[in-house]
Amino acid sequence: MNPRQTELCNNALSGSDANETNIKLIWYYNNVLGRPEKKKIISRWRGYHGSGVMTGSLTGLELFHNAFDLPRAPILHTQAPYYFRRADRSMTEAQFSQDCADRLEAMILAEGPDTVAAFIGEPILGTGGIVPPPAGYWQKIQAVLKKYDILLVADEVVTGFGRLGSMFGSDHYGMEPDLITVAKGLTSAYAPLSGVIVADRMWQVLVQGSDKLGALGHGWTYSAHPICTAAGIANLQLIDEMGLVKNAGTVGAYFRSELAKALADHRNVGDVRGDGLMAAVEVVADKDDRVFFDAADKIGPRISAALAERGVIGRAMPQGDTLGFAPPLCLTRDEADVIVARTVEAVRSVLTSAR
Ligand SMILES: Cc1ncc(COP(=O)(O)O)c(C=O)c1O
Repeated sequence: MNPRQTELCNNALSGSDANETNIKLIWYYNNVLGRPEKKKIISRWRGYHGSGVMTGSLTGLELFHNAFDLPRAPILHTQAPYYFRRADRSMTEAQFSQDCADRLEAMILAEGPDTVAAFIGEPILGTGGIVPPPAGYWQKIQAVLKKYDILLVADEVVTGFGRLGSMFGSDHYGMEPDLITVAKGLTSAYAPLSGVIVADRMWQVLVQGSDKLGALGHGWTYSAHPICTAAGIANLQLIDEMGLVKNAGTVGAYFRSELAKALADHRNVGDVRGDGLMAAVEVVADKDDRVFFDAADKIGPRISAALAERGVIGRAMPQGDTLGFAPPLCLTRDEADVIVARTVEAVRSVLTSAR
């Protein structure tokens, strides 16, 4: 998205409330255009977009739905772009991406294209397992969305401001979103601040709307709080001055390649993946037949705890035995070496059966 063609809208405090703003802007947009039926929002299984009522519905993880009566209409979920867990293991990445796009199109046709307003996705799945998009995924998904005049929301709460070694994940993967959600990286989480970046093509319609319908009834008491916005400006200056976006790309590539090398021979390490300074290690009961562990064994949480005992934070991601890493953008190669060495120790301490 060209920054000169965008507007930053309604700074708020969390990724969740920025995504609430997105939903309202999408509905408002279609009302202004006289399309009151076009309101459904398609998300992905394993996507994470917050834990409110609507944003918890957008999230595609059981933990955030169970016993909360979520998801709520009009949110739908389509296949996660999770290549390692694809049902048909004979599929290449390109075939799997096509399968994701075909399933999306089938869902849109079944629902009625005139009822589907938007698709939301993280450029790379985060909480759902740190899963980069398979080859060609975003190109194929965007072709379907364009065909049916469906807006694209890139939830960049994790990827915004450098995490993948590019300023935005959308640029990184060739996405052309209508809305971008930003939060965490905006202040490096030193202060709570989030926002929605609106593409000019959508902004023009919103502006027409307020001429037609009156002021936009949206906002919170602490929106655009001066303390948080000052922290945001200072943080973005430091990201530029310290060259942190570039560092995330170069040290991230080193970190992920060392991690993959160090764990390649372990019989329970099924997949080491990631992009930029996001990495994941997924362990399985049987690597050749891709048999997953029983969730009750809590293998992922046990490895995460073993790692914490060794002074390194690696998150046990929900729904699977995946250890996730998102270290600070200022990570050095020496620090990456420490994370890799401790991770190997922690994996071996829980899964002693190394080859
Ligand atoms: C991609 C994504 N979107 C939205 C959110 C929600 O942000 P918050 O926890 O600030 O509400 C998160 C939080 O981790 C996230 O990773």
